[in-house]
Amino acid sequence: MKGILLAGGAGTRLHPITRATSKQLLPVYDKPLVYYPLSVLMLAGIRDVMVVTTPQDQDAFRRLLGDGRDVGLRLSFTVQPRPEGIAQALVLARPWLAGSPCTLVLGDNLFYGHGLPALLRRAAAQPSGATVFAYAVRDPERYGVVELGPDGRAVAIEEKPKAPRSRWAVTGLYVYDGDAPAIAAGLAPSARGELEITDVNRAYLRRGDLRVERLGRGFAWLDTGTPESLLQAAQFVQTLEERTGAKIACLEEIAWEQGWLGADDVRRAADAMGRSPYADYLRRLAEGEARR
Ligand code: G1P
Repeated sequence: MKGILLAGGAGTRLHPITRATSKQLLPVYDKPLVYYPLSVLMLAGIRDVMVVTTPQDQDAFRRLLGDGRDVGLRLSFTVQPRPEGIAQALVLARPWLAGSPCTLVLGDNLFYGHGLPALLRRAAAQPSGATVFAYAVRDPERYGVVELGPDGRAVAIEEKPKAPRSRWAVTGLYVYDGDAPAIAAGLAPSARGELEITDVNRAYLRRGDLRVERLGRGFAWLDTGTPESLLQAAQFVQTLEERTGAKIACLEEIAWEQGWLGADDVRRAADAMGRSPYADYLRRLAEGEARR
């Protein structure tokens, strides 16, 4: 299983904050936004990740993440020249995927909750098809929306419907078999000029191969698309981290727990960062003091 992290888009809903920097590099409390979705891939055990960025932001992502070695990953980078849709990431990654199944995560989606790695591993273990993760929200019209039948299976999936048929938003996390890039490549752009991920999911639905995992109330799926939601996400992370003393989406910690890094690597990572609270946390981890 390979991972794709999409960090494209113009972030216009956050202008002027995102005029000069990528949305996915903005801070969510104590770390860049992109750490959160990247941590989801890592918790699923995925080490080979392609980061899809805009042309102007690629260097910044490389400065932040390097080749991934420091967090136990093998990162590749590619550029999406224009914001032409989430599904285009699958087309761009196609040669690199070389037929492999993939987990695609949007670089601005923040997930929190016990049991997500198990759900991802279960999806990855399917021999074929696609799995999406649905979350009940108050404002489904802002998202892809899936309608579920009595048996919990998808009956319809629509992108930003004016009259949503359910409260189940499709989150920015998708697990696909090796067919997804070809499906995406065959799509026509939507009215907003994008290759829609919802159209890829609908293709799987048509062939009876779309699974929906519902993320229940024990999960948080947070949006970061507006100034309000970005601040709320930061406050959510701050509240939990201050209460528990454990960091959410600490990449070095996750890599260490996965056995990809050792204590020396974690200490080195801390020393490369200086005296930030994140670096101090890594130091305490390496010394075995932090709460596990
Ligand atoms: C995109 C997808 C949508 C999905 C959402 C999740 O929306 O098109 O189906 O529910 O991400 O964040 P967009 O960010 O393009 O508005």
